[in-house]
Amino acid sequence: MPRKRSDTVTQAALYPLDWLEERSGLIGGVKYFLFRKVPGDTSWWHTLGSATLTAFLVQLVTGVILAMYYKPSPAEAHSSVEHITHDLWGGWLVRGMHRWGASVFIILMFLHMGRVFLFGAYKYPRELNWIVGVLLLATGLFEGLTGYLLPFDQTAYWATVVAININGTAPFVGPFLASVLRGGAEIGPDTLARFYSLHMLLVPGALIGLIGLHLYLIVRLGVTSPPWSKEAAGETPDEEQPSGRSGLVQPGPRAAGVRRRPSE
Ligand code: HEM
Repeated sequence: MPRKRSDTVTQAALYPLDWLEERSGLIGGVKYFLFRKVPGDTSWWHTLGSATLTAFLVQLVTGVILAMYYKPSPAEAHSSVEHITHDLWGGWLVRGMHRWGASVFIILMFLHMGRVFLFGAYKYPRELNWIVGVLLLATGLFEGLTGYLLPFDQTAYWATVVAININGTAPFVGPFLASVLRGGAEIGPDTLARFYSLHMLLVPGALIGLIGLHLYLIVRLGVTSPPWSKEAAGETPDEEQPSGRSGLVQPGPRAAGVRRRPSE
């Protein structure tokens, strides 16, 4: 039978994907990530993690654009930020998104952590992901601290003095920590260069690595049902569930009432 033209077009369009899949398995991996099953009673509360991820991605994109124009020296830092804000097309928007986005990112991280805590989603087998989350929180806050100095105005300068002095009061390691952060005896050009390098290279790199690990563990373990979930408690849900089973992993008795499709 002669082949239909639409089949030929579909095959041609899918060829690059097939090529990649055959050589890397990446397409299968992405499909698994996007279409994996989650509990039927997953709610809006479960979107806080993805919202945090979105805020982080916005910070990455706007940060890369700002880094094209920012100059990390005490003489030029403030004027370069003013230049971005007032002279460049859309500069005020990109800078505003980055500045406000930093707070949005931190607030979302806390809200997401609160949801995980209140749902008891830190318990077995997700303790390791909670620990990764704590590292993400600390690293995220450090990203905020290093970015705050960069406009190099009075607020930035004195806020950094306070932050470094607070670190300096830590037992035993305090003075060493303060000196490492300052990059010398006083806050100056070396401090700014150090904070810039940490802010745009080391800390975002660490965040990307930790987020990768966080997501891997989420996919491996599945997400938890809410505490009020009848499904997870093993009771029959009020309404007919659409299809699919309850998450990928439900340890212990919680799995008792898991409903499966006839084919599974
Ligand atoms: C950059 C910051 C973070 C990003 C991008 C992020 C992203 C996510 C995403 C997308 C999910 C799955 C959906 C959801 O449950 O909302 C998730 C789940 C989870 N997150 Fe985070 N997260 C971050 C920070 C944190 C923090 C600070 C903690 C706790 C200290 C944490 C602990 C967890 C745990 C334990 C889960 C599993 C929840 C479950 O199975 O229901 N995360 N995270």
